[in-house]
Amino acid sequence: MDTVNEINSGKGYAIVKIENLENFIQLRKNFIKNLNINSNEDEDIDIVREKIAKMNKSEINKAMINLLKFNNLSEIILNSFPKLVKQLCGEELLIQRRATVIMNVPGKGQAKQWPHYELMSGISPFTYVIWIPMHDLEENSGVYFVELEKSLELIKKEEAQGLVNGPTVLNMMSDQKPVPLKFGEAIIFNPFVLHGNIQFKSNLARIAYNVRFQSFKKPILQKNTDYLKYYKLN
Ligand SMILES: [Fe+2]
Repeated sequence: MDTVNEINSGKGYAIVKIENLENFIQLRKNFIKNLNINSNEDEDIDIVREKIAKMNKSEINKAMINLLKFNNLSEIILNSFPKLVKQLCGEELLIQRRATVIMNVPGKGQAKQWPHYELMSGISPFTYVIWIPMHDLEENSGVYFVELEKSLELIKKEEAQGLVNGPTVLNMMSDQKPVPLKFGEAIIFNPFVLHGNIQFKSNLARIAYNVRFQSFKKPILQKNTDYLKYYKLN
């Protein structure tokens, strides 16, 4: 099964290689520079992760605000996968105005995310998500996915019971295995696939991006231009 079919009707997600790694390495340098935490852009990503892991919440918030200056993140990420994005959606896109940056700091209370599917946050059923770490992932530190058929079965079952994230879905958190990824790999998934994080052990912060995109020709439903912008792949 090819990647497009795998994402649309197979497992609902696929591990993909960055098509344009140079582009992405440059993005990582810009990310480090824009964080503004006394790191030069050539600093090793693991050193940056160690610094972030030692920061308190307000320091992390400050760094996140610094990142607002880095305002073409979504475009750079999409341009790291031009062929696949074009196969999925064509050249004319609606993209998330600002890609999401997630920095998970190790220790107690570390973000774990219950299983959810993207439609819950009002994005259209025509949307795809790229999730991409900035470094090799430690064991269990990535995202787990529930295959499409199973996800749909659970969603329909919950709908019939009038539930969202009822006991069946919440209990799934305990036995999930996140997908291992190396730097240079990403996951692209469709918005019906249940996914989430579990706790993991590391001394380093986990840094990942995600960005949502869809064809310009498809309906956007609940989202508007506060969230989306037009973008043509070059
Ligand atoms: Fe999500």
